[in-house]
Amino acid sequence: MAQLWGGRFTKETDQRVKDFNDSLRFDIRLLQEDILGSMVHAGMLARVGVLTGEEADAIIEGLCQIGEDAENGKLDTSEGFEDVHSLVEANLIRRIGETGKKLHTGRSRNDQVALDMRLYTRRRMTETGQLVVRLLETLLSLMKEHTDTVMPGFTHLQKAQPVTLAHHLGAYFEMFRRDADRLTDGLARMNECPLGAGALAGTTYPLDREYTAEQLGFFGPTANSMDSVSDRDYLLEYLFDLSVIMMHLSRFSEEIILWNSDEYRFIELDDAFSTGSSIMPQKKNPDIAELVRGKTGRVYGELMALLTVMKGLPLAYNKDLQEDKEGAFDAMDTANTCLELFTDMLDTASFRKDVMERSAKRGFTNATDAADYLVRKGVPFRDAHGIIGRMVVECIGRGIGLEEMTLEEMQAFSPDFDRDIYKALSMKVCVDRRATTGAPGKAAMEEEIKHAEEVLAELTDLYDFEDSDDEDSDEEDPEIIF
Ligand code: ARG
Repeated sequence: MAQLWGGRFTKETDQRVKDFNDSLRFDIRLLQEDILGSMVHAGMLARVGVLTGEEADAIIEGLCQIGEDAENGKLDTSEGFEDVHSLVEANLIRRIGETGKKLHTGRSRNDQVALDMRLYTRRRMTETGQLVVRLLETLLSLMKEHTDTVMPGFTHLQKAQPVTLAHHLGAYFEMFRRDADRLTDGLARMNECPLGAGALAGTTYPLDREYTAEQLGFFGPTANSMDSVSDRDYLLEYLFDLSVIMMHLSRFSEEIILWNSDEYRFIELDDAFSTGSSIMPQKKNPDIAELVRGKTGRVYGELMALLTVMKGLPLAYNKDLQEDKEGAFDAMDTANTCLELFTDMLDTASFRKDVMERSAKRGFTNATDAADYLVRKGVPFRDAHGIIGRMVVECIGRGIGLEEMTLEEMQAFSPDFDRDIYKALSMKVCVDRRATTGAPGKAAMEEEIKHAEEVLAELTDLYDFEDSDDEDSDEEDPEIIF
């Protein structure tokens, strides 16, 4: 098997060193990116006169065939190549002969792998963005459906004040909207092309880096060749973005697990998204939500692992950088799968409106509203708080809600109570009086939904070509793919 660097060596590599050093088993994922980068590099070498047009054509044609063979499962990867770069180059030479040996002119595996990894990450980040957009779509349609679905809002996991399901889900809409924005920011920041940086110090060939950057959809070439081969900031940012997405999914999962329990019964998960128990026939478990919550740990772990790999590295390239791949691949696969499954689980779940509303009523979530009622009648808030607190104690003792006391009973606590208290205590009024921007009241919620629709339309244009309603556009690709 041909090595790329045998010339300087007089001894065979120890097999264990080879096994330890080789990366083909995981960087084979970068094959299509490697081929694309090589094609553009060869084309550029011809433009600047380093290769002839015929040589570049032969190289590009050979690379094209390798790509096709790989797609059809016909590329032999079993020969023990060190990495994907060696695999492609050796294959090319085998196919087109001597000309293939000219491909690597003015290039190093250091800028090559930096390019491959950036191209691959850009594609996966875009995919994550699309999956977040799908989740936002699902959330928004549930929000529209549930503006009147009253439920208890919680603090300390204690029933606090009444909200609606639309409002509760709107909180998650905001979290995932910020996640999408973070991905968009990161995609713009990382979109510079490291190809042409060479091993670390550029090359003596007259490479046209602007041309290769443009051909590969980058905004332009990276500014410093040493930084180009040693920077993995963009990958760290993506891993952070994924960690935050997983944290949001995990919090949401935790709520779904609670809501799916017999104690809450707020939600019924679809059979297709639940699992059973081997011993307890009655069980229908929320395993998807639990696994999403559990897998959050490994995504955080991959972020921490790469931060640690990077922390002591002197400039420029060091082999430690090869350790950027396996963990990052795992984090991308994990988070994207979680996003996809979670969205489908949410989309197919049904919410029990009656149980939610009953739960809001049973938990004194209208106690603040009762105090606010007295304030409107001229009672200072602190006194009103004390009065309602004493009434709650009595109601707990009797197993009833505030609204189940008679007017006379209420007046024994405060003469300021009148008939209109019953309306003031109804769940619907309690929710609708919360009319400040961002609150669950119907009017405020409708504003929130309108804004969410605008945000989603923008994100859909950026990330999601299939659902784009931009009729005039001939573009096949989402705008975000540069
Ligand atoms: N497999 C290597 C990596 O992932 C490719 C670059 C190798 N460069 C080198 N100088 N040995 O980083």
